[in-house]
Amino acid sequence: MTRILMICLGNICRSPLAHGIMESKLPEDHFYVDSAGTAAYHIGNAPDRRSIAVAKKYGLDISTQSARQFKVSDFDTFDYIYAMDSSNYDNIISLARNNTDIKKVRLFLDANPSIQNKNMPDPYYGEQDDFEYVYKLVNETCDILAKALNG
Ligand code: 4NP
Repeated sequence: MTRILMICLGNICRSPLAHGIMESKLPEDHFYVDSAGTAAYHIGNAPDRRSIAVAKKYGLDISTQSARQFKVSDFDTFDYIYAMDSSNYDNIISLARNNTDIKKVRLFLDANPSIQNKNMPDPYYGEQDDFEYVYKLVNETCDILAKALNG
């Protein structure tokens, strides 16, 4: 079983989309996908209604997800930890206990050669269009990652 963790700040906008989209592209008997936030603001909350809406538009139900905060034991549980932006990346790296932990953490958009800016934009203070953009970029990048992981 390969375990993948998607990380953003609040675990209500970007990483729930990455979680749901990645899960939909990988066989569930070989992959476990989860998401978490670096911050504690939204623990226990469902994804943002705009993330739920854009996922639904593309046939994915993410409404039953519940936000949680990243914890150090996630380094033991997961094989790959993908941060949505460099701030999330730095926050997770600052919690790493050793080199094994550090090597598990990646900037999600580093997998996507077609995009220059490696920070997934935070749509929280944006409009539905911003969530649409995030959905498309997450989907494109998950396609690349899923192909690489599925070998
Ligand atoms: P996310 O977006 O990190 O993609 O879930 C945010 C959600 C909440 C906040 C910021 C970003 N906030 O400040 O509450």
